[in-house]
Amino acid sequence: MKVSAAVLCALVVVQAAVLLSAASSAQASELKVGYYGKKCRGVENVIKWHVIKALRAHRRTGAALVRLLFHDCFVRGCDGSVLLDKSYDNPHPEKEAPVNIGLAAFDLLEEIKAAVEDRCPGVVSCSDILIYAARDAASILSNGNVHFDVPAGRLDGYVSKAEEAQAELPDSVDDVKKLIETFAKKNFTVEELVILTGAHSIGQGHCSSFKGRLSEPSSQITPAYRDLLNYKCSQGYNPAVDNNVRDEYYDTVYKYMPGFTSRVRKIPDFLDNSFYHNTLAKIVTFHSDWTLLTDKEALGHVHEYADNGTLWDEDFADSLLKLSKLPMPAGSKGEIRKKCNIVNHRLY
Ligand code: HEM
Ligand SMILES: *[C@@H]1O[C@H](CO)[C@@H](O)[C@H](O)[C@H]1NC(C)=O
Ligand SMILES: *[C@@H]1O[C@H](CO)[C@@H](O)[C@H](O)[C@H]1NC(C)=O
Repeated sequence: MKVSAAVLCALVVVQAAVLLSAASSAQASELKVGYYGKKCRGVENVIKWHVIKALRAHRRTGAALVRLLFHDCFVRGCDGSVLLDKSYDNPHPEKEAPVNIGLAAFDLLEEIKAAVEDRCPGVVSCSDILIYAARDAASILSNGNVHFDVPAGRLDGYVSKAEEAQAELPDSVDDVKKLIETFAKKNFTVEELVILTGAHSIGQGHCSSFKGRLSEPSSQITPAYRDLLNYKCSQGYNPAVDNNVRDEYYDTVYKYMPGFTSRVRKIPDFLDNSFYHNTLAKIVTFHSDWTLLTDKEALGHVHEYADNGTLWDEDFADSLLKLSKLPMPAGSKGEIRKKCNIVNHRLY
């Protein structure tokens, strides 16, 4: 017993040494466009190919990727911390935070990571893959209107805590004042808050994320839309509902909002400025969406982006790019993970 305990101790020390030597400072190098040009030729195309294929099969995966970029970068910077599964060492990773309900596309990222590892083992971080994939998804879902070059060179972090995600990400029940504070903590302006929330033109939300909306007064939610949401939420246990009413079934829209049927789309999840029209018409799912109308400056920007879709496409690209540059906390260590859901070395 004594011997095996000593061996175990020695192993832990060795593992710790390996861990420390393998870890490099996350701040060591500046992010660069084309970072993998020589290190892993063609990697951006490999990632794009996988994203195109996945979105052809299931367009909503694109929405999941765009949300993942936000949820990764807002918590400890863009370090792939949102991708880590719970483990013996870390029973409560970010994934477990209530605000992270509905996160998806993890399998796709793992599939891309495996393909990239085949090509150039140990070179491309999961955090960079996530940003590239989300960038490609935003471009595909907007028919190329939202496009930008992504600087890369991020490292994957070791730390992922549910309580941090819960504290730093906005909640769907938040009022505008709280949202402004939450974004200001990450150096984002009121205008950028309004720009980024436009991402709710795509994807879905669970009924539990807008429960309170279903009993808000008609000054806050259009009654016909409230009826539609009530109907959708009665169809199962906490189902997910389209964020954008134009993505709903024609028959459902016809029944509840017949004046709206001409806007129903055959292809769902189109990333554009429709969120601002929906917000002004009070046909948005989350309280946090509606509340943008209650701050003078935010309201001004809602009008601005409702009026000019091209402007939104450009500013949304800039704001996603800014999100993608959020750094890990000073002094953090990082690595290139072998798999995205688990750190390379575990300490038992
Ligand atoms: C302003 C504060 C925000 C709040 C309170 C918020 C809240 C939420 C909630 C509650 C959901 C649905 C989760 C569920 O029930 O499954 C959701 C979905 C989504 N959010 Fe946000 N969000 C915010 C900002 C953003 C930003 C900045 C982005 C990206 C730039 C974003 C992108 C998305 C997308 C794409 C979806 C749909 C995801 C899918 O269909 O898989 N959100 N958001
Ligand atoms: C926000 O800006 C301040 C001042 O430039 C900087 O010290 C801080 O690290 C920034 N915060 C984030 C999350 O980038
Ligand atoms: C909309 O924004 C674009 C991009 O900034 C700009 O070139 C265009 O003039 C704007 N259109 C209107 C009608 O203001």
